[in-house]
Amino acid sequence: MNTKLLVIGGWLLAVVSFGTPAGAQTPEYTGNRVCAKCHFDQGEAWRKTGHAKAFDSLKPSVKAAAKSKAGLDPAKDYSADQNCVACHVTGHGGAGGYKTGMNPDDAKLVVGVSCESCHGAGSIYRQKHADAVDKLKASGETTDRQVLVDTKQNFDYESACARCHLNYQGSPWAGAKPPYSPFTPTVDPKYQFDFNKAVRASGDKNPVHTHYKLRGVFKGGTVPAIRADLQQNAQEPEE
Ligand code: HEC
Ligand code: HEC
Ligand code: HEC
Ligand code: HEC
Repeated sequence: MNTKLLVIGGWLLAVVSFGTPAGAQTPEYTGNRVCAKCHFDQGEAWRKTGHAKAFDSLKPSVKAAAKSKAGLDPAKDYSADQNCVACHVTGHGGAGGYKTGMNPDDAKLVVGVSCESCHGAGSIYRQKHADAVDKLKASGETTDRQVLVDTKQNFDYESACARCHLNYQGSPWAGAKPPYSPFTPTVDPKYQFDFNKAVRASGDKNPVHTHYKLRGVFKGGTVPAIRADLQQNAQEPEE
């Protein structure tokens, strides 16, 4: 972003933005901790999934049998291999996202497949979430979901999953391009991706995270068809 702070005589006078029209900023990745601070239950559930540990799978001797079966070398360290990293981290190469060689403390927030891999880079829409709950408390008014779409929150989950799960050689997915996933249905039928089965799995077995009831802070707009079903079977949040 091209923003400058204008400080004259010790006073912060204005925040001046050059070039980028207001409302058209590009969101950055902020890391899972920011999201989990407010979405505590989803955070706890996500931490137990394979997605949360996906980066560890690239390290030597982890998941050795699966690697051998896919023709990989189980003794090799793949954690900086550009043929592997993008699908095992969050926001690879994007602003705020994972970069090979980044400071380990920052890396903790974006290793593994975390919130923003599916929901989109969150530096702008997360603020809309905070604003919307404040507005509801202050005036009882809900917020139009279009605000989230405008700030690039992703609701096209199937495309988000496809980028990693259907990106292999011989895939029926039109977007497939290298680097490909070595874990294809030809290697083992268990790697066949089934969106509906995965997202609808109940409770702890859900590879995404357990689903919790929304209170309806946001209204309107287009939400994916599965939302209604998931919400019907969702658990009450703990707090
Ligand atoms: C300041 C607290 C806060 C932060 C930070 C935050 N959220 Fe939210 N989020 C909320 C609230 C409050 C709602 C409305 C929940 C409801 O309706 O019960 C919400 C709603 C949502 C929804 C449902 C939106 C809809 O369609 O109704 C998703 C998905 C979501 N958040 C994901 C995220 C992700 C991913 C991040 C991190 C990038 C994040 N949130 C950061 C407070 C927050
Ligand atoms: C950024 C890439 C990426 C995205 C996006 C992604 N996944 Fe994954 N997924 C992975 C990786 C990598 C693993 C393997 C984790 C490991 O190392 O064990 C995985 C594992 C899984 C598994 C296997 C079981 C498990 O819990 O490990 C399922 C099922 C799954 N993902 C479903 C989904 C669904 C559904 C979506 C979309 C809503 C999705 N994934 C989005 C990369 C991704
Ligand atoms: C295009 C995205 C993509 C790339 C590139 C990729 N992976 Fe993955 N990887 C996945 C997905 C998706 C899964 C989950 C497959 C499933 O369980 O259905 C996965 C799973 C794995 C697993 C766990 C398999 C199991 O059975 O538990 C290991 C280990 C792994 N990947 C290592 C690697 C290595 C090493 C590389 C580079 C040589 C690599 N991956 C490149 C997407 C990718
Ligand atoms: C692998 C993809 C994926 C990851 C990772 C992921 N989500 Fe989700 N999330 C989904 C899907 C799919 C839904 C269900 C569709 C919907 O209701 O919008 C969902 C729904 C939600 C909702 C709506 C209420 C609910 O529980 O269903 C919130 C809030 C949310 N996610 C927050 C988070 C947070 C916070 C994280 C990280 C700690 C996270 N998600 C990680 C895919 C993901």
